[in-house]
Amino acid sequence: MNRIFSGVQPTGNLHLGNYLGAIRNFVGLQNDYECIYCVVDLHAITVWQDPKELVGNTREVTAAFLAAGIDPKGSIIFNQSQVSAHAQLAWIFNCVSRLGWLNRMTQFKEKAGKHRETASVGLYAYPNLMAADIMAYKATHVPVGEDQKQHLELTRDIAQKFNTDFGVEFFPIVEPLIFGEATRVMSLRDGSKKMSKSDPSDQSRITFTDTADEISKKIRRAKTDPEELPSETDGLKERPEAANLVGIYAALSGQTSADVLQEFGGRGFGDFKPALADLAIEKLAPISDEMRKLMADPGHIDAVLADGAERARALTDPILREIHEIVGLISS
Ligand code: AMP
Ligand code: TRP
Repeated sequence: MNRIFSGVQPTGNLHLGNYLGAIRNFVGLQNDYECIYCVVDLHAITVWQDPKELVGNTREVTAAFLAAGIDPKGSIIFNQSQVSAHAQLAWIFNCVSRLGWLNRMTQFKEKAGKHRETASVGLYAYPNLMAADIMAYKATHVPVGEDQKQHLELTRDIAQKFNTDFGVEFFPIVEPLIFGEATRVMSLRDGSKKMSKSDPSDQSRITFTDTADEISKKIRRAKTDPEELPSETDGLKERPEAANLVGIYAALSGQTSADVLQEFGGRGFGDFKPALADLAIEKLAPISDEMRKLMADPGHIDAVLADGAERARALTDPILREIHEIVGLISS
């Protein structure tokens, strides 16, 4: 059986990278798979979160899921902390995973930076919790952006080691689903950095809550080079900012970058940026309008999460019970 699991952290500033790299793909997969989409609040608290903001951000990601077109009846939408199997399996995986494996994780190195000694233990063990998220459902496929590839390789290593250590064929070896023209959307201010929720510059990203006017301004001010657009994708090499904007246009319009260059090759950014701004507004405005409506009724959002959590627990309960039996933990 094929089962999809993916997660998004409620850390605010949900952006175009989250949409094109992940959330939009979540929507399309619903027709072909059983899908479980999680707002990973336990991952969010691996770095400091203001409690009130965390509540709001959790509702905001949920609203984005719904507004983008995830069907809460067909798919399961919930927040991670409501399903205790995630944290329970994470502990077991803490004992399967190796320090040497975690030491190689680039996301930890980037997030902890020079402050390794004062980073939380949770930030270090973050990938083990992510493996637990996926394996608590024995999910087979995980749609994510490019930046999560290494974490999914670790998930495979943990599942494999568990199976080998206990002499079972219990956990599936998960397949990443990284697809679309924008698996790594870059900052609008610096083509060498990925678009990120934590970039201090709000100009670096287009968010789900930006107005049409803000989207338009951010695209107009986006960093570019003085050249015209090339007619072929080869011409985008060494031009990270141009490649990024063309990739965004391609992803939003459902074309390839080559298609976009056929249309815009030989034209300057003075032509291209307004076209991109119009397209981004056309695609994002209906989602942000719907999000605003949803956010006005937090009771409804919380009810969606509660319903999803209950259905999620029905899936994890028997799996966790089997895991306990395999490991030798008595349960009643
Ligand atoms: P996060 O915001 O870190 O919880 O990420 C949620 C999802 O969005 C994950 O699948 C990420 O891989 C994806 N994602 C985050 N940033 C980007 C980006 N700049 N480009 C493409 N995908 C991204
Ligand atoms: N680590 C992911 C991110 O930052 C979020 C995440 C947590 C996740 N658990 C997951 C993604 C399980 C896919 C599957 O983007």
